[in-house]
Amino acid sequence: MLRPTTGATQQFFAVAITLAVGAIAPGAATAQSAEGASSAPAEVTFHKDIEPILQRSCQNCHREDSVAPMELLTYEQARPWARSMKRRTAMGRRAGVMPPWYVEQNIGIQEYKYDPSLSVEEVAMMGAWADAGAPRGNVADAPPARDFGDGGWTIGEPDLITKLPELIIGGEQPDWWGEIETTSVGNTSDRYVEALEFREVNDVLDTEDSRETVGGRFVFHHMIWSTQVIGDDGAQDELREEDTTTGWPVHEVGRNADTFDPQAGRLLAANSSVVSNSVHLHSNGRDTKSHLEIAWKFHPEGYEPLLEPARRSLGDGLNIDIKPEEADQQLHAYTVLQEHQKLTTFEPHLHAPGQRMCLEAIWGNHIETLTCAGYDHNWVRTYEYADHTAPILPKGTILHITGYMDNTTANRNVPDPRNWQGSGNRSVTNMFIDLGIGVKLSDEQFLEQMEERRQAISWRTGDHVIGCPLCPYDDLTIADVTEEDAEDGDAGETSETAETAAQQ
Ligand code: HEC
Repeated sequence: MLRPTTGATQQFFAVAITLAVGAIAPGAATAQSAEGASSAPAEVTFHKDIEPILQRSCQNCHREDSVAPMELLTYEQARPWARSMKRRTAMGRRAGVMPPWYVEQNIGIQEYKYDPSLSVEEVAMMGAWADAGAPRGNVADAPPARDFGDGGWTIGEPDLITKLPELIIGGEQPDWWGEIETTSVGNTSDRYVEALEFREVNDVLDTEDSRETVGGRFVFHHMIWSTQVIGDDGAQDELREEDTTTGWPVHEVGRNADTFDPQAGRLLAANSSVVSNSVHLHSNGRDTKSHLEIAWKFHPEGYEPLLEPARRSLGDGLNIDIKPEEADQQLHAYTVLQEHQKLTTFEPHLHAPGQRMCLEAIWGNHIETLTCAGYDHNWVRTYEYADHTAPILPKGTILHITGYMDNTTANRNVPDPRNWQGSGNRSVTNMFIDLGIGVKLSDEQFLEQMEERRQAISWRTGDHVIGCPLCPYDDLTIADVTEEDAEDGDAGETSETAETAAQQ
């Protein structure tokens, strides 16, 4: 394991103490309400202040042919919702807040890709606008209307869209698990994927009432899937099986887009098909015909990944014991990183009683909360760290997740809080997992990544870097690693890893 030199260790303690004090600063309440914030400008108008927020953070969903019940494109459409918008944007990072994005703003890493959430100032502005009677202001201040020619995908205009087969689920049918017909993706050359996004398209209108259940009118609750190259006989091409099968993050109801580390694009081999034997449908209360679409964004032809994906096995499916009629119940799970890793996403996965999850990294006596996020099982979110905030963690780091469960009537996702809840697959039983992903780093890549990070954030001696316990030690070398491992008797293996990395 890497260890800082003695001089650095003292600095390290000083930093850790400052950090701990910062983390429990007064006012660090769980669900932050912005109602107390008072930084809104005096005269807030629709065209000048509110419209840009709606364009950036709301209109992807609040427009025709998208998921939300009403449109928020024009002043006339937004005006009647002013009070409701004030309320829904000021709820704090918990179920119900708009937009559905739950990273808490008072702890941990704050910069994520495709973060649509409102700043404290913007929330205050929404409130001030509603309180002032929702004034229109000057049309000349309006930003140009958004162009949805790209289909309104968060990842931007896709390079390819794959439509999966239609499935039907009856209004009174129980949960269904099964396979979908293997479907050609439509790519004819090997491509590396930069980002992808799912959309469920079904025949229940967003204005129709659907059963008050998790997922609302949407019926695809998950799809665990891979892409594979399938021959004319329907079997997988055995010769290329190893290097043409790619696993992708599981799709879940209400889930947002996936992006991969820019240096770890995933292969979509030429002529791939989507293969899944694990689709989970959950009825929305009426007969529904539905299919999924996958939008792909590729790296340019000729792109080669430099880093390999890593998964972390972090969760507990055994000890879930959720008592009836009780809020703030906690679950804990741990894992130890066996290799250096950059965590690129955090993805709390709970079920209906899930209320919140925190991810913590423990390295020696360095204990740091990376992310705390509220949870709403209607809106499964994956949080993608920005390139310059993704945690870079040494092997041996302990990752710890805490799940917070609310099994009371205050949690509208729970059908009947008088029930005890345990573990299981159905939408009414429970899971407790961080489905986040990351990339593996060799010793050399680990040092390189930390150097890149220091440059990206204009690091100066003494600066603490959240999520990167060794970043403050810019004098670490591979020799530190081999020397350490020599004591453990496996120096040979480590220096070989370092050599291989050096050759790449
Ligand atoms: C990811 C999609 C999505 C985004 C982004 C989004 N909404 Fe929503 N919104 C929905 C859906 C779906 C509903 C209906 C379900 C619910 O009430 O939670 C909704 C409900 C609402 C409601 C309540 C409507 C009612 O019937 O009372 C308001 C108000 C609202 N949104 C405002 C906003 C504002 C303002 C933004 C941006 C700051 C925003 N939403 C961003 C999808 C979205």
